[in-house]
Amino acid sequence: MDANLAVLAGDGIGPEVTAQAVKVLQAVGARFDHNFSFHQAPIGGVAINACGNPYPESTHEICLKSDAVLFGAVGDLKYDSDPSAELRPEQGLLQMRKALSLYANVRPTFVFPSLIDRSPLQRARIEKADFIFVRELTGGIYFGEPRGRSENGSTAFDTAVYSKGEVERLARIGFELALKRRRKLTVVDKANVLATSRLWRETVQNMESEYPEVSVCYEFVDAVAMRLIQWPATYDVLITANLFGDILTDEASVITGSMGIMPSASLGDLVELFEPIHGSYPQAAGRDIANPLASILSAAMLLEMAFGLKTEALAVRQAVEKSLEAGVLTADLAVGKAPWGTAAVGDWVAREVHSPGVPLQ
Ligand code: IPM
Ligand code: MN
Repeated sequence: MDANLAVLAGDGIGPEVTAQAVKVLQAVGARFDHNFSFHQAPIGGVAINACGNPYPESTHEICLKSDAVLFGAVGDLKYDSDPSAELRPEQGLLQMRKALSLYANVRPTFVFPSLIDRSPLQRARIEKADFIFVRELTGGIYFGEPRGRSENGSTAFDTAVYSKGEVERLARIGFELALKRRRKLTVVDKANVLATSRLWRETVQNMESEYPEVSVCYEFVDAVAMRLIQWPATYDVLITANLFGDILTDEASVITGSMGIMPSASLGDLVELFEPIHGSYPQAAGRDIANPLASILSAAMLLEMAFGLKTEALAVRQAVEKSLEAGVLTADLAVGKAPWGTAAVGDWVAREVHSPGVPLQ
């Protein structure tokens, strides 16, 4: 097949890890006879530096013209130390999510057998952990109006807003995913306190009869924060609001041993986007130490979800698994051994995808 891919590498370690995912996609193209064209475009801090806009119109156009988007990370220490900065790299990501209507962020958590002892959690608890968060991505307190400061600046406010329609389209993705898996859907909310959460419950409850095979339960976010690490194997598909999902998926990444390996897919009406769940890790930028596997596994999700290329996606996942078994590990995972560099891990996985089992020359 022929496909156009937008590549928005962004800031910090974004360019380094994304370059490895591109390498792997090129290897997929060569082995399986696909022609991927890559179109780089700026976002985040690099876009602010280049043209004063964290999500330039030209980048938006490239995304719209593409068959899928591969995204790296945004964020820079320069802005974190200045809370009054008007333009922030993160605005680029948020504007892009809104402009591309990427309302559902699918974040799987699974454990690679060879990494099981890298997790700070006990093996017996996490062995069977395999769940997916579907995080609402274009609404809630991230986007609600009004937001800002009172006139004298001494009070600040954010607004959490959800409409039934927003909850329904998100929940539908959760229900459909659950149908393909263990048929269990958990709605994570704070319905004992928040009006938005009560709307979530009511809306999902009204949909239950459309999906009689799916068993639905409703749990409070504070309890899920605890149960997720205590009994991770009891969850299948979880749906939740933007902010809750942001927090809980960082927590969930601990189960797997490293945040550096967790991919995600953002789904919407216009184009699909694939990105690691980790951030820009500016302290590691340019040092060839970041783990590229989250980006490479995001590319695997891209192959499967955007193009239905299941065999190709499996080839990438298997190559990643083999690299882990072979001890090809970046510093976040290599305990007591010399770590591999970002580019070297990318080369190893790309080679394994291209010619399985043939050693690197
Ligand atoms: C994420 C990130 C973003 C978010 C930031 C960078 C705006 O943490 O994708 O999880 O909060 O959504
Ligand atoms: Mn986050």
